Amino acid sequence: MKTFYLMTMGFCLALNLHAQRSEYLLEKGWKFTKGEVSNAEMPAFNDAKWETVDIPHDWAIFGPFDKNNDLQNVAVTQNFETQASLKTGRTGGLPYVGIGWYRTTFHSTPGKQTTLIFDGAMSEARVFVNGKEACFWPCGYNSFYCDVTSLVNEDGKNNTLAVRLENRPQSSRWYPGAGLYRNVHVVTTEKIHVPVWGTQITTPYVKDEYASVCLRTTILNAGKTELTVVTDIMDADGQVVSTKTNKGVINHGQPFTQNFIVERPKLWSPETPVLYKAVSKIYSGDTLLDTYSTRFGIRTIEYIADKGFYLNGKRRKFQGVCNHHDLGPLGAAINVAALRHQLTLLKEMGCDAIRTSHNMPAPELVELCDEMGFMMMLEPFDEWDIAKCDNGYHRFFNEWAEKDMVNMLRQYRNNPCVVMWSIGNEVPTQWSPEGYKVAKFLQDICHREDPTRPVTCGMDQVKSVLANGFAAMLDIPGLNYRAHLYDEAYERLPQNIILGSETSSTVSSRGVYKFPVERKAGAMYDDHQSSSYDLEYCNWSNIPDIDFARAEDHEWTIGQFVWTGFDYLGEPSPYDTNAWPNHSSMFGIIDLASIPKDRYYLYRSVWNKEAETLHILPHWNWEGREGEKTPVFVYTNYPSAELFINGKSYGRQTKHKNGTVENRYRLMWHDAVYQPGEVRVVAYDEQGNPVAEKTVRTAGKPHHIELVTDRSSLQADGKDLAYFTLRIVDKDGNLCPNDGRLVSFKVKGAGKYRASANGDPTCLDLFHKPEMHAFGGMLTVIVQSGEKTGEIELQATAKGIKTGTIRIPVK
Ligand code: GAL
Repeated sequence: MKTFYLMTMGFCLALNLHAQRSEYLLEKGWKFTKGEVSNAEMPAFNDAKWETVDIPHDWAIFGPFDKNNDLQNVAVTQNFETQASLKTGRTGGLPYVGIGWYRTTFHSTPGKQTTLIFDGAMSEARVFVNGKEACFWPCGYNSFYCDVTSLVNEDGKNNTLAVRLENRPQSSRWYPGAGLYRNVHVVTTEKIHVPVWGTQITTPYVKDEYASVCLRTTILNAGKTELTVVTDIMDADGQVVSTKTNKGVINHGQPFTQNFIVERPKLWSPETPVLYKAVSKIYSGDTLLDTYSTRFGIRTIEYIADKGFYLNGKRRKFQGVCNHHDLGPLGAAINVAALRHQLTLLKEMGCDAIRTSHNMPAPELVELCDEMGFMMMLEPFDEWDIAKCDNGYHRFFNEWAEKDMVNMLRQYRNNPCVVMWSIGNEVPTQWSPEGYKVAKFLQDICHREDPTRPVTCGMDQVKSVLANGFAAMLDIPGLNYRAHLYDEAYERLPQNIILGSETSSTVSSRGVYKFPVERKAGAMYDDHQSSSYDLEYCNWSNIPDIDFARAEDHEWTIGQFVWTGFDYLGEPSPYDTNAWPNHSSMFGIIDLASIPKDRYYLYRSVWNKEAETLHILPHWNWEGREGEKTPVFVYTNYPSAELFINGKSYGRQTKHKNGTVENRYRLMWHDAVYQPGEVRVVAYDEQGNPVAEKTVRTAGKPHHIELVTDRSSLQADGKDLAYFTLRIVDKDGNLCPNDGRLVSFKVKGAGKYRASANGDPTCLDLFHKPEMHAFGGMLTVIVQSGEKTGEIELQATAKGIKTGTIRIPVK
């Protein structure tokens, strides 16, 4: 890319560019230690004995899991608890609590401005440069920056950067991760420069013929200097589609404004994620002072009372999921390939939106949502001024809320994927008669910083917020669960639209099925698992079918964000009260190992209108249940299907609106009887033609290991990841769904073993050790590329079955 640039733009200009702005990441060779250390910020401090780590780094993901890590004695009032009880695994049973120190050195350029950007540091970060405190940022999720120009060495060499982090016990309701788990950037600029997140792009007029684009650029330290700003708007192919040269003096610190017309704009949407770029050059006379690039998209959003949400003039409903930020076995340490892997699975399911619950995302996630086409609801807080956790964000709210909001809003207000801000999730403040004032304070900050997007808040105390004015004050009322109260909320609220800001919270363990098959709140079993018939939920939540129906039946519902797309570390409801060893959630549509559960196909059958879905559950290895009723469910986009067990027809089922809500979305044969052999399903289209068929067979003896991946090659960047799905199968390749044997891994060649996971919320195997028990006959092995090209070989061995081997090129 750089070479291309040199060749096409000329050597001088490129050199010049480098001279005025540069940015690099501090990734390798950090020193790290846990615990408090005095003088660790001082340049002379000897850190030779500390561990050497690369960041992003999550110090707690290496475990070990322990029931006593962050035991919390609390009453979870949102879950209707009135008495405190001992919560285990709430933060994953991982050792995230404590102090951690990181040290490295970096170079700066004499005579230039130096700024450090932290994409997120968990938490209460104190940043020191050459022994002096440069900044403090308490919120562990937010990006922040500090100008360290006055602290760097005159010659620019060997600046010592030390970061002290501290995680208090009882500071979170889920696994927050620990450490420098996101990137750290060093930015060098001239004195006169565009600050971090210093531009704001809006598209005030968008039609097929043309769009108007308004760019406002903040420029610091310009005084009365006359500046020339030359901005090119480039399309996705790098062609300049509009350009402006404007001269002016910065007016009392106001941003420098330029307006453009883009003819026949290509509009951004989840289906067409087209991006543009504004590249601005700032000159004083002939001297180029700064070059600043802002990526954006052109699209319209409208939220219309009684009619719903419109993107580019077309109504659609959010088919969204909420996700926590951890990446399962990788912990909180950010990795672009891991995020892409997650988004690829969600896209294939038909998901088109993400809610970053309940905190600011990694910038890489927002960039990927722009590129891959997901709408986003960004949400900063899980608590405001009133505590949910003893040591939660409420300690900082009064002093820091506005600063945190401003950083989030400025960082992401140019990203077309962001279509809505949320100001919080189920904050206890919603109950208070004065709570609306706090909500208004936060909503006003959103409007001030970004007048183009509406604001919502995830509210669970629906009766209270309808009565006390809290819900009526928001741009968009977001209800968490309580689908039965949507009508009342719609009638009583002035906005006349309802968002399912959080829905479902159905629980299931991949490959586990419980009998009898019944719709149940709070079902618990001796093995600490939940049933994959997708009928179990918490006492505040519901099965997915109810939310599908609410979205389909009313124009005024604008869709939903399901809790959750992926299982996450911590919050192992319903096994969260003295129920160790459960350490991860069961809410995910996809498990902690990134393997889809059955529920994935239920959502896909409703959401993905392009692809065929035909999925059968349960598995068919029920030794001991011969002759017993063993219901068969089918998730399909087709309206009907016929079931055959060992050739015997159980008749045709058709989706219908009479009876239970499940009948609308699932085909169910409750009277199916188990006999080993073959379950075959033939699906029919609207006209009654047979159009697809699927078979599940009783597996024989475990025979060998099968390994597959969706990647055909990896990049030699030292960061790329391949997710290998491992299946223990019989001699004919049928999954052995009850196999839980230990599998060991060896990785050779151009990469290394990174982690593995099996999705079992009760399994305490450590992710970073190259061995893992299978769960439901499956697990995932994650392999990371090195920096050299070549080939990676993964070998998986287990007692009693044939080894599996797979290779992948690294380019
Ligand atoms: C909601 C909450 C989420 C999660 C979920 C579990 O009330 O907003 O953070 O706790 O319940 O069902």
